[in-house]
Amino acid sequence: MKEQLDRNNLPKHIAVIMDGNGRWAKQKGFTDRIFGHRNALKAVKEVIEGSGEIGVQYLTLYAFSTENWNRPKAEVDALMMLLVKTIKDELPTMHKNNVRLDTIGDIHNLPEYSQKELLSAIDDTKNNTGLTVILALSYSGKWDIVNATKKIAEQVKAGTLAIEDINESLFEISLDTKGIPNPDLMIRTGGDHRISNFMLWQLAYAELYIFENLFWPDFRREHLFEAIKDYQVRERRFGRTSEQVKMM
Ligand code: IPE
Ligand code: IPE
Ligand code: MG
Repeated sequence: MKEQLDRNNLPKHIAVIMDGNGRWAKQKGFTDRIFGHRNALKAVKEVIEGSGEIGVQYLTLYAFSTENWNRPKAEVDALMMLLVKTIKDELPTMHKNNVRLDTIGDIHNLPEYSQKELLSAIDDTKNNTGLTVILALSYSGKWDIVNATKKIAEQVKAGTLAIEDINESLFEISLDTKGIPNPDLMIRTGGDHRISNFMLWQLAYAELYIFENLFWPDFRREHLFEAIKDYQVRERRFGRTSEQVKMM
């Protein structure tokens, strides 16, 4: 599959909604959803390594949404612990593969120890020049948009920005994804056809690829290549006609 991919038409940025851990555990006969989260690490490794191998530049992983704070406390605590363990375990591999770590989201809401581990790993990998892996943590698209709006309003209030100068470019650099190109491809496992408050602004023209019968813990790099292969035969029209696109 990997050899069949057109290296000149790779998505620059892939965003992933890693969904279905709980159902995976249930399907295996386990009553505890956390078992599913624990078994998601292999899939995280695979998607990162697969992306690096073929030369994707940015990979955003939706790891914890604003709404996920409403889950049972035991599950939230387990997820926060797993986050730290994953970062610790993966740091050497990230270095080996020249991966730079970054984050988006309201990370001040994370427990102190998780924030510390995360920020230290980000600092530690900041000079790596390969794939950038962005962990979306305590993130939601609505939060991002409201946050950007506040930043812009502050500047207007301070008199450093005129309302007439508010435009899409300014809005983009006020979002938490500042400096990161918008995703070209969004992958979701677990069969649900929804955005679940992910990058609402940034996904405006992303191509969507849903795995209907695959839960996140079973995701392997072949699945990533399958999604990219499908992406490569699509016509991205950005509102134009097909004839216009072919002339470009
Ligand atoms: C995705 O799997 C992981 C997180 C949202 C943190 P889920 O935990 O949502 O699993 P399902 O969708 O309930 O099966
Ligand atoms: C989306 O999955 C969030 C993450 C994968 C982190 P959810 O399981 O929270 O989404 P819904 O609730 O099914 O929409
Ligand atoms: Mg889910």
